[in-house]
Amino acid sequence: MKTNLRTILLAVFSLFCFISCTTEKTHQNEKDEFITKLMNNMFVEEKIAQLNLVTPSAGTGPFKTKRVVEKLQEGSAGNILSVMGSVERIHKTASLADSTRLKIPFFMALDIIHGYKTIFPIPLGLSCSWDTVLIEKTARIAAIEGTAMGYNQTYSPMVDITRDPRWGRVMEGAGEDPYLGSVVARAVVKGYQGDDLNDETSMMACVKHFGLYGASEAGRDYNTTDMSRLTMFQYYLPPYKAAIDAGAGSIMSSFNDVDGVPATANKWLLTDLLRDEWGFDGVVVSDYNCVQELIAHGVAADYKEAVKKAMDAGLDMDMASEGYSTFLKNLVNEGAIKIEQIDQACRRVLEGKYDLGLFEDPYKNYNPEKPAKVILTEENKEVAKLAVCKSIVLLKNDNNTLPLNKNSKIALIGPSVDDQFEMFSMWSQTGDRQSVITILDGIRKLNENVVCADGTFFTDDPDYLKNDGRFDEAEQFKKEKEAVEIATKSDVIVAVLGESIAVSGEARSMTDISLPGCQVELLKKLKATGKPVVLVLLSGRPLTLEDNLQYADAVLEAWRPGTMAGAGLADVLFGDYNPSGKLTMTFPRSLGQIPIYYNHKHTGRPYIEGEKSAFKSRYLDEKNDPLFPFGFGMSYTSFGYSPISLSDTLMSGNTIQLDVSVDVSNTGDYAGEETVQLYLNDPVASVARPVKELKKFRKVFLQPGESQRVHFKLSVEDLKFYNYELKWDWEPGKFIVYVGTNSEEIQKASFVWNR
Ligand code: BGC
Repeated sequence: MKTNLRTILLAVFSLFCFISCTTEKTHQNEKDEFITKLMNNMFVEEKIAQLNLVTPSAGTGPFKTKRVVEKLQEGSAGNILSVMGSVERIHKTASLADSTRLKIPFFMALDIIHGYKTIFPIPLGLSCSWDTVLIEKTARIAAIEGTAMGYNQTYSPMVDITRDPRWGRVMEGAGEDPYLGSVVARAVVKGYQGDDLNDETSMMACVKHFGLYGASEAGRDYNTTDMSRLTMFQYYLPPYKAAIDAGAGSIMSSFNDVDGVPATANKWLLTDLLRDEWGFDGVVVSDYNCVQELIAHGVAADYKEAVKKAMDAGLDMDMASEGYSTFLKNLVNEGAIKIEQIDQACRRVLEGKYDLGLFEDPYKNYNPEKPAKVILTEENKEVAKLAVCKSIVLLKNDNNTLPLNKNSKIALIGPSVDDQFEMFSMWSQTGDRQSVITILDGIRKLNENVVCADGTFFTDDPDYLKNDGRFDEAEQFKKEKEAVEIATKSDVIVAVLGESIAVSGEARSMTDISLPGCQVELLKKLKATGKPVVLVLLSGRPLTLEDNLQYADAVLEAWRPGTMAGAGLADVLFGDYNPSGKLTMTFPRSLGQIPIYYNHKHTGRPYIEGEKSAFKSRYLDEKNDPLFPFGFGMSYTSFGYSPISLSDTLMSGNTIQLDVSVDVSNTGDYAGEETVQLYLNDPVASVARPVKELKKFRKVFLQPGESQRVHFKLSVEDLKFYNYELKWDWEPGKFIVYVGTNSEEIQKASFVWNR
């Protein structure tokens, strides 16, 4: 009976596979046929136009593209980035394709990074939720809102691994870990693209910045990167690969060079690795003006040579530089570029447009009434509010200062407590500022007993300086005095400090990532009132806070929270939401420790804190360990972990699985969510392996007193790493497994796994 059932199920499954395989083949055949027919009818200029992405924005390119409308209309450009405004305006631009001979629809591209009108927390903040379902939902909402306006491609996700918080763009990524970065990358791609790119609410994702842009030396934007192939493959490349495997339709070449050759002209990167090894068949677009910048990099003598190099490397589409539209035809005529190269790039662009369904309906069901129905809906805002709650990381909570009592008298202090714009990031260009719930509004909704004051300036605020360019001490003093006055009369102080929007994002690298002096002075004075101080940090990066922590009883990292900033933060402050965020980037104690990351190697002279020996890998004036490690984040409750239990300690063969489990208990007074993290270490291998690497995590929600057994299954896949020959393989022997609440507070067990 059992066998029969199995046979029937197998037959049904095989039939299903056959049908879906055949459908896929038919789709591919139809697509090939359609595009071949179209391309047979295209002039070379029309093909080149498909490789040209213009933009009306005042960018950093050489051709200030005022004439974009004419270019689209005359058919010399086939795609456009950053048309903004009303749905009618965007539609009008997209409709310019109708005036061209073949009426080929445009990629209507935009950087929708963490929301379109409904703005979610910055990606670094979102990643701290470790909640891929939520993250996918935020991208889905962004796609629904963006497609309703007429966009079909977004330049997101940014999956660059980042270990240097001086780099302003750390705000755009998911932090320092390749495993978590890969999981997040997949979720975001799925969110944008949905189940089918053809759907009217799906937009094409563009993975960026390929590659290694996050390793810009010294955290200076656009700077060079240099690393070993092992580091590249082990740590930096996995999230790009994961996003591609998740089906991302496009990828962006980065500004930096990789092994001496700028990514945009790097054939090894864009063709050998991306196409030949990884099998990517989507569109490769350059970053803004990267083609022309090959001259400044010093790998092309002139613009024409830059174009040839980019094309030869495998770059399909030129963003903003308009080098392709200016020089490609001549290069073909001269025989320096083969027409087959143009054909191949053009085909990929057309295939992308076909997959998006643009040839059936270039405007994806254009309806000017639609934005009002799907943008900034109550449901979207609810998700945004949850995202704020889940992205917030509780860094300190002495004497259970938090959560606050809803009846307490609150002094709310900080230059942005009632500022809508400051809740955004530099990548919230389309966000609706008027809908932002400020921190004051959010708190007031739950507790009316709140008074506020600026207390200080942001250091980058022009008001901070007098006409003669000097710091306006008198004005600062006045602000501090006012803040201290209201603080003295309060039960608790909530100080909202950190960075302004102006210092985080692209081209916003910093050499000082501490709290500005005037903020520290204010904090000291607030602390001196004797009232409990809750420090809420707004920032796009980890800050160096060690010296300042003493002036706060509780600290919440709230990142740049977006539309529902105040609502989410208030829920956390008053305990309507118990914080559960965990850091995805290490917080250094001081600037000198950077780059600092949890998955570093042992070195030959590892230093154990407190050891006397001088000749160890250490600083004389600073500890080695960070202020807050990767994976760290507190809760209003506490969680207990049982010792690790292993299903076996001696494993052999590569088909079996090891069960690793722990009992996690809520030992405190609040219901709460814990992210249980599993790390592995391979203590002896053919290459030096990191002290630990995140391999799995599970989120559990527990009521006070509740326990849950959390199981993880390990297979040899989890033991694999890139060996010296760059082969992804595992080596038998002893392994150490760690499970715990962050990368430092962990339990340990070991097992042996033989071939
Ligand atoms: C950024 C990209 C972005 C592009 C288009 C560049 O400056 O590096 O991330 O997608 O501009 O706006």
